[in-house]
Amino acid sequence: MQESGVRSGAFCDSNPQITLRLFDKVSNPKSIHGIYPYRGKMSALDAAHVISQLPSAANLLDPFCGTGTIVYEAQAHGMKTIGVDNNPLACVIAKGKTEPIEAQSVLDKLSSAISDGQSQDDAPRMPDSPAKYFHTDTANQIMRMVQVSAGFNSYLLSALYGAICVAARACNGWLWTSTSIGRINEPLRKIDFYSTLLRKVKKHIEFVNNGPPAEIHTHDTRQIHDIIDEESVDIVYTSPPYFDALDYTNYYSKIVLEILDMDRASVREGLIQRYSTYRDDMESALAAIDRVTHNESLIIFVVGDRKVRGELIRGSEFFTEIAPWDNPYVVEREYTKTASGLWDKINKTQRKEQIIVWDLANGGRKPE
Ligand SMILES: C[S@@+](CC[C@H](N)C(=O)[O-])C[C@H]1O[C@@H](n2cnc3c(N)ncnc32)[C@H](O)[C@@H]1O
Repeated sequence: MQESGVRSGAFCDSNPQITLRLFDKVSNPKSIHGIYPYRGKMSALDAAHVISQLPSAANLLDPFCGTGTIVYEAQAHGMKTIGVDNNPLACVIAKGKTEPIEAQSVLDKLSSAISDGQSQDDAPRMPDSPAKYFHTDTANQIMRMVQVSAGFNSYLLSALYGAICVAARACNGWLWTSTSIGRINEPLRKIDFYSTLLRKVKKHIEFVNNGPPAEIHTHDTRQIHDIIDEESVDIVYTSPPYFDALDYTNYYSKIVLEILDMDRASVREGLIQRYSTYRDDMESALAAIDRVTHNESLIIFVVGDRKVRGELIRGSEFFTEIAPWDNPYVVEREYTKTASGLWDKINKTQRKEQIIVWDLANGGRKPE
């Protein structure tokens, strides 16, 4: 496999290269990461590749951890890890992947919950907005399981939320793609939600990390120094939100948030993604991240080109300009065998994805 590389001094003395794979495939179906279809989820194969080059004794922070792809892979590498995201739904999934569990007791808990759900006299009605995507009987089974889920651990909740997404797709004849989520394809098919959930729980259970748990915080990264000690983080590795990007409360998450009666508008309100305020918001987040790093920290951001109002903005240029750190190394690759590559072909763009590495031991901070 071909690789492009960057030098890094602080943590890789014997092998001073951090490399980035060229895309051959993005996801690993035999992993935990398919438990929930979060829009904006990064490639777990990439995360594992970068993390394998980092020292396992370091503390790692992902300040925009989403569903915990990086946190999970870092934990599997033996690192002490912290993930922060202000979307509570994403944090449940990140916890579900990284909190140790005992498989048999999880399966026992699920089968007694399914019996309880089935024997309820009454289930609450699913709210109208999500209900339109499900066959009535499937919606009823989903609400029964939501009703008995109060004692579920994060793994079972993650599987429950993931199974709701699978059921939505299945009720619509499996015709939903990542861009056609929410199109109703009549007649809605009846799906047995209990077996969908059971399959999901069994499919991913063997991949839960059973090492020391990662710390996951539902918090705004602009105030990350409130929850993480100053100068305590050795490595920051993240894929930050972008202003043209996805609404992380939309797509399947909209359906799940509405079923759970979570306040979607307030989750959205805290997200850094509006074009008009993006630069200021991101500068505040970077300043907060800077406070928890030290003079030898390594900071790795996965970014990319974005087309805004007809103009291509280079992610690496944007972030190197606003970051408080100096002399980054950038590795770049074209989007190839991915949905993004297809998008580029259709739109006749050639966006690139970049990884920016600030090695504070060698590059330091910008002068005030
Ligand atoms: C590109 S996604 C990260 C996805 C993640 N790497 C994964 O694999 O699931 C960016 C994340 O930034 C989060 N985010 C946006 N604004 C935030 C803020 N103010 N504080 C914390 N997290 C925020 C979003 O909720 C989203 O999950």
